[in-house]
Amino acid sequence: MSRIVHHKLPNTGPEREALRETGQFWTPDWVAEAMVGYLIAGGCQNLFDPAVGAGAFFRAAKKLQSMSHKTLTLSGTEIDPQALEEALANGLCKDDLANVEITDFVLKKPDSLYEGIVANPPYIRHHRLSRHTKAKFRALSMKLIGKPLDGRAGLHIFFLIRALQLLAANGRLAFIVPADTCEGIFAADLWKWITAHYCLEAVVSFTPEATPFPGVDTNPLVLMIANTTPQGDFFWVRCTKPDTEQLREWVLSDFTKAGDDLISYQRRLSEALCFGLSRPPVEGVSFDLTLGTFAKVVRGIATGANDFFFLTTEQAKIIGIPDEFLIPAIGRTRDVPGNDITIETLAMLKKAGRPTLLFSPDKRPLGQFPAAVQAYLRQGIDMGIHERSLISTRRPWYKMESREVPPILFSYLGRRNARFIRNYAGVLPLTGFLCVYPHSTNPDFIDRLFKVLQHPQTIVNLALVGKSYGNGAIKVEPRALERLPLPPEVVSETKLVANKKYEQMALLF
Ligand SMILES: C[S@@+](CC[C@H](N)C(=O)[O-])C[C@H]1O[C@@H](n2cnc3c(N)ncnc32)[C@H](O)[C@@H]1O
Repeated sequence: MSRIVHHKLPNTGPEREALRETGQFWTPDWVAEAMVGYLIAGGCQNLFDPAVGAGAFFRAAKKLQSMSHKTLTLSGTEIDPQALEEALANGLCKDDLANVEITDFVLKKPDSLYEGIVANPPYIRHHRLSRHTKAKFRALSMKLIGKPLDGRAGLHIFFLIRALQLLAANGRLAFIVPADTCEGIFAADLWKWITAHYCLEAVVSFTPEATPFPGVDTNPLVLMIANTTPQGDFFWVRCTKPDTEQLREWVLSDFTKAGDDLISYQRRLSEALCFGLSRPPVEGVSFDLTLGTFAKVVRGIATGANDFFFLTTEQAKIIGIPDEFLIPAIGRTRDVPGNDITIETLAMLKKAGRPTLLFSPDKRPLGQFPAAVQAYLRQGIDMGIHERSLISTRRPWYKMESREVPPILFSYLGRRNARFIRNYAGVLPLTGFLCVYPHSTNPDFIDRLFKVLQHPQTIVNLALVGKSYGNGAIKVEPRALERLPLPPEVVSETKLVANKKYEQMALLF
């Protein structure tokens, strides 16, 4: 059978932007077939897709029916009639789509239960949802889960909740979702509810090389959930090669036949919920010593308007800002090519015309600044800088956040791997970085801590505490970085010692 090429791989700006509004990223056949396979393996005879789009799951169902000689009736919803046109162009016929209703799946009043639900829900992040929609979702989660989910939950989360509500007893559900479903701030509440009421049977993750959505900045997971009694174990699999039949065969064999391209684990649900369903099982990692044992972590400075507050030496000179209002600062992670930032790094950035100075006014009344600063702040008002969202909450609007200079920085997101950076240049970092403040100012203690943080065994542990994005990038929040496990053998090799009262950390060697 010839393969129908139907992936939309948006890589360009406006096209990608339009897709972000509707969440139209199509599921590739090899993943759609595995997901539909889960329903077939469970004996489902009806398949419901709440977000039909270009019809990936309907096509997969038709293929699997003819392979297995089983029949599946197809039904679904879709909000965008044009997407269904694409489904017809992709090989489905009008009869296949006869039971697809053009409607909003989440907000429509439910009229029936379904025994098999499969979906790639629209991935629309919370900041693209209107206030009105958010209020409706809040009410929905109150009704279904008994508490409102954190406002940062996107549309896909409400698709999942609504679909679970509509899953018939003994029914099966397969959803492909971004990893934030398991890592977001709302994830603990969500999963507490799911695992108390449903049986999580399997989670499929993908290595960056095997991602179903190349070029899209997200780390997808497939969730397979049954409406049966919750169990303490489930299968967690990592798929290392795209476009093979192994995933489908593994699912159709009831998770028994894992080929070479799948790394499969049977995991305790309690362990996986603790460390994150999107992360591989944690084996042999000691959490006795963490970065928080030795240091505190704080995010870098949020200026609210880097174009106004983060200046090149040239700009600061032309404006005439006196040195007392300028602090050496670093903005972009790619401005630090290595693992340390020195006076030479700053000189190189200045030469390249990159901003290296944070304009940092204090809270005195505007009229009490030197004339050049007053003029520049007034220019800011004319430009509406004082009305920008973060800035308008400050009193007065120009008062810059303050930080001690951190001896160690952490570059927490980026195409180049997340890394620790030794700050020899005394710079303050902006929000592209986290500030690491060791509990002792003893330079020897700081050097040893930095050595531990550079160790490859420490760096691999970042995956245990970070949020994952496409292409293997990781984002780590300050509190999560404090939970970074430091391998005890590396800590003792480096002779880094903490005394019992962490706030009075001392080096005992
Ligand atoms: C990520 S696409 C998935 C389509 C297809 N099932 C696939 O996997 O290739 C999500 C689809 O959901 C549709 N959609 C967005 N919001 C919706 C809503 N509230 N109700 C129903 N469908 C919606 C979009 O138009 C889009 O076609």
